[in-house]
Amino acid sequence: MFERIERVPGDAILGLIEAFKKDTNPQKVDLGVGVYRDAQGNTPVMRAVKDAEALLLKNETTKTYIGSHGDPAYGEVILPLVLGKGSPVLEAGRASATQSPGGTGALRLAADFIATQLPGKDVWVSDPTWPNHLGIFPAAGITLKKYPYVDADNRLDFDGMLAALKQIPEGDVVLLHACCHNPTGFDLSRDQWQQVLEVLKERKLLPLVDFAYQGFGEGLDEDAFAPRLLAENLDEVIITSSCSKNFGIYCERTGCLIMVAKDAEQKENVRSQVAIVARENYSNPPAHGGAIVSEILHSDALTATWGEELTEMRDRINTLRREFVEALKPYGLDQKYAHVAEQRGMFSYTGLTPEQVDRLRDEFSIYMVRSGRANVAGFSQENLPYLAKAIAAVND
Ligand code: LMR
Repeated sequence: MFERIERVPGDAILGLIEAFKKDTNPQKVDLGVGVYRDAQGNTPVMRAVKDAEALLLKNETTKTYIGSHGDPAYGEVILPLVLGKGSPVLEAGRASATQSPGGTGALRLAADFIATQLPGKDVWVSDPTWPNHLGIFPAAGITLKKYPYVDADNRLDFDGMLAALKQIPEGDVVLLHACCHNPTGFDLSRDQWQQVLEVLKERKLLPLVDFAYQGFGEGLDEDAFAPRLLAENLDEVIITSSCSKNFGIYCERTGCLIMVAKDAEQKENVRSQVAIVARENYSNPPAHGGAIVSEILHSDALTATWGEELTEMRDRINTLRREFVEALKPYGLDQKYAHVAEQRGMFSYTGLTPEQVDRLRDEFSIYMVRSGRANVAGFSQENLPYLAKAIAAVND
């Protein structure tokens, strides 16, 4: 039977990891997959994580199952991290946390929940969005639709977005990126979020907030503005959160599906359905990453260390954004790429065309997604002059 199976191209983002590894050019630059890199190009284990792991090794007493919702101690710290300490949503018992295998796992749980419990509801994503969104929802049997997000000049198209949201049929699901929009790096202002809230209310739309980069934009609380605003002002919100980036525990697959319901009673009903979805997908989530996060956030000292490290990562990325634009000045390209300094998070939608991206790879061993998305954390003081020269060459 297998003789009829066709080979398909590999994942466009993950495939870059392999292609980069194979390249023998000593000047090669990896701006592909979204992982943080330090000045030496490494993705180190954070100090707080190492300390938490040492404690876990010493104190762990069992490897037994942790249940479909994961470790309650993890949920206990993730909810206030996302929704805010003293959140009225938490005080009212309206939010439920389900530990998941990464943010992707949380998205798949959300997709299966929507498919089974809200049949017939379409999911609307920004155009462009993280390419995996385009796979996850249809895989669960959901029809995906798009609302505009960037215009032809590679700038945030908020008017286009809002106008499209106003046309979405009542009850459909709208996927919104809480901060550090992937792939563009263009985020909404607080005022724009207020306007989105009004449309969601008016049209009775269900927001699904993808929150994979908390702490990478402006700060842990600042980046949580949108999910908190929506959860406090709407009856129902779905949030998928990830610890991959802000704790640097990519391979531990640690995320959370947060379901916000109208009241505690409805939350329990929803929660019981999410448990079934998790059980049918993978039964229990992997425990280790959640245990690390729980260990850190239950300790004031480790939380302080982690917060400092996260600030360091965010500041480095934002500095590199400005230095990138500076490096392009001698080529007269600083105005053309000025938006890179204004975008937020790990990614920049540079505006480079697929053909320019191909040339950067083939002629300069610079790797990025063909959409022109660059992982800004892959910039370094060392490689910026080389990058600027290469970008100038493909702009000729
Ligand atoms: C990315 O967009 O590069 C990251 O979220 C990693 C991934 O899984 O695609």
